[in-house]
Amino acid sequence: MTSLSIEILSITETHIVSFRDCLDSVAQEGLYLGMLKAPSIERVSAFVHDQIEHGFPQFVAITPDEKVIGWCDVLPYEREMFRHVGKLGMGVHAGYRGQKIGTCLLNATLEATREYGLEKIELEVYASNANAIRLYEKLGFVHEGRKRNARKTASGYDDILLMGLLF
Ligand SMILES: CC(C)(COP(=O)(O)OP(=O)(O)OC[C@H]1O[C@@H](n2cnc3c(N)ncnc32)[C@H](O)[C@@H]1OP(=O)(O)O)[C@@H](O)C(=O)NCCC(=O)NCCS
Repeated sequence: MTSLSIEILSITETHIVSFRDCLDSVAQEGLYLGMLKAPSIERVSAFVHDQIEHGFPQFVAITPDEKVIGWCDVLPYEREMFRHVGKLGMGVHAGYRGQKIGTCLLNATLEATREYGLEKIELEVYASNANAIRLYEKLGFVHEGRKRNARKTASGYDDILLMGLLF
């Protein structure tokens, strides 16, 4: 359970616009994601519809007034020989971090991914993102590799850590 008023739900069509706003807000922090703004509403909508149609796991954290303030999704790889593995992405709006919302989102997504039948989840996280790394380690992800100097910004280089969870 998260703090009392936040619900964790499977994403539905009604959440798409608010999900994009949340993704955009985390992207614009410029620290954590592989993008600096959210993709267009058309692309986000296509992604979410695809997740829903295929039954791929995607959960959102919702306020009582139906605002999306966090998400976690797993997208299985498409190519033959790799379809037993999915890639995870997640984020919580800056104003709501540190209240176990990320833990609840990730737990729900791991359970749904296992039920879906995937055998492994992979993710990439910046080496500077200590909070996310701790969360992933706490829920069983292990370190699998490091892409050195993978990101370059005005403040310098950052490595990308590869983490994975085998069910
Ligand atoms: C990573 C993120 C999703 C965690 O969500 P959250 O709701 O803040 O996480 P929780 O409150 O459930 O905390 C989970 C764990 O993360 C770590 N953590 C989170 N916030 C922390 C903080 N401020 N200080 C220290 N540890 C922290 C702790 O290990 C914590 O577990 P614990 O409380 O049992 O020790 C959130 O910080 C976020 O959205 N960050 C920006 C986007 C991002 O990094 N996405 C992932 C890209 S790979």
